[in-house]
Amino acid sequence: MADVFINGSFIAAEQATVSVFDRGFLLGDGVYEVIPVYAGRCFELAGHLNRLKNSLAGVKMANPYNDQEWESLFDTLIKRNGGGEQALYMQVSRGVAPRDHVFPEGVDPSVFVMTNPLHPVSEKVKTQGIKVVTLNDTRWQRCDIKAISLLPNSLLKQEAKEAGADEALLIRNGFMTEGSASNSYAVFDSVIYTAPKNNQILPGITRDVVLSLAEQAGIAVVEEAVAEARLSVADELWVSSSTKEILPITTLNGQAVGSGKPGPVWHQIDALYQQVKAEA
Ligand SMILES: Cc1ncc(COP(=O)(O)O)c(C=O)c1O
Repeated sequence: MADVFINGSFIAAEQATVSVFDRGFLLGDGVYEVIPVYAGRCFELAGHLNRLKNSLAGVKMANPYNDQEWESLFDTLIKRNGGGEQALYMQVSRGVAPRDHVFPEGVDPSVFVMTNPLHPVSEKVKTQGIKVVTLNDTRWQRCDIKAISLLPNSLLKQEAKEAGADEALLIRNGFMTEGSASNSYAVFDSVIYTAPKNNQILPGITRDVVLSLAEQAGIAVVEEAVAEARLSVADELWVSSSTKEILPITTLNGQAVGSGKPGPVWHQIDALYQQVKAEA
């Protein structure tokens, strides 16, 4: 079994333990990141470390390490687990203390890092796309914080699965925010629309890459949430995340999206994304 990092030590995963009084366990009180690793190196590390800082500040926790320390910790674990392609998961919880909603004082945070296999996006998904359903966005008002308390996201993803779909597109006040574990996009007349960065979405690192690739390619982007009613007439719909990359949606609520095949704008952005990955 692979090694993990827990509170200062690199050890075999089966030997890693945390206290039952850890606030991550009792209250879901912590934040996390998932970073794809290509050729043994973290992809878009600066963006992930920056978002980690924002998440920690958002939950009023100190950052236990500086950027160099995080980088060297991640590099060590990636090497111990064989390099190559991996998905690195890290979380910081507020630490071990008697259960109380109020923050404990003078408690060290718990830091956990593991790596998992990174499964390449299948050819089937790339040629046929994925299925999604729209669901009510039942999450809290701080979706910009990457919090480990993922119960609403988990319920939504499960509901999508039970409806025969791969992902849920979430609707708040009549507009699409994002997916249950992804950012979302709609294309109309070769213009990409995606919800703006605010408290209603997670500022995705893949989203940042997508938008900068679109800019380089001269494809117009409008950071505006799309009305639910317009989703069924979009030319293309996509979702993106660090481990799933950019996925074309070809079925929305049981109906074909656009031509029913991954569209030309997705093909163009995905090709550029694959190039950036290969060069990173
Ligand atoms: C709710 C949500 N939005 C967006 C994303 C995409 O973020 P990233 O591209 O940084 O992986 C994720 C990733 O897990 C997510 O859970």
